[in-house]
Amino acid sequence: MSLYDRILGHPFVYHHVRPLVVGIDYTPQYEALDAGFDDRILDIGCGGGDALRYLDRFDTYHGFDTDEVAISFARQRPEAARPNVHFATALVSSAVLQGIRPTRVMMNGLLHHLDDEEAVGLLKMCAATDTVQRIVTNDTVYLPGEPLNNIMARLDRGRFVRDVQGYRDLVARARLTIASEEAVRSHPTRGIARYWVMVLER
Ligand SMILES: C[S@@+](CC[C@H](N)C(=O)[O-])C[C@H]1O[C@@H](n2cnc3c(N)ncnc32)[C@H](O)[C@@H]1O
Repeated sequence: MSLYDRILGHPFVYHHVRPLVVGIDYTPQYEALDAGFDDRILDIGCGGGDALRYLDRFDTYHGFDTDEVAISFARQRPEAARPNVHFATALVSSAVLQGIRPTRVMMNGLLHHLDDEEAVGLLKMCAATDTVQRIVTNDTVYLPGEPLNNIMARLDRGRFVRDVQGYRDLVARARLTIASEEAVRSHPTRGIARYWVMVLER
């Protein structure tokens, strides 16, 4: 991992510095997940567990990330002490999906970290899991006529930032349906970046 990635990915920088620079409020993304008290949520690429700032209704929450530093940070959150909250440092496989049988899958800031084959493979695994009712993705995106956004996107740690069509192509290859999609400001009043949010169904 490069020094740039290590600095930007450090939990303190990610959770305290980045929101001051970019302006971060993921409320619309988590509202789009539309989780209720019966839902089993799988949060892939959960990072430091920020989802728990936004989600208050679920049966179980499972956060997976490949970064051990991020998962250690997540496990220190007060909400992590709840018996229905679980974190794991691991890749999500078909066996994980069959074990958890999630109804809602969150990929907040994940797809632009994955190359096309990894992204389509993961989306296909979700598509093949019969319990999954909804997947929400949220990613840095290149947008025409948005130079400031595109500079921020260029500086993103994710190596696979795409344009809108690039994200749609991943969904089409996984044979999922886009129920809704929109560009959302990273913060409703202060956000200088835009994220591409898709609500996907099987
Ligand atoms: C931009 S961060 C988003 C973190 C969190 N979802 C949030 O909204 O704050 C992307 C995360 O995806 C993780 N990641 C990258 N590739 C992954 C993979 N194949 N499986 C699980 N997590 C992955 C990274 O370690 C990183 O924590």
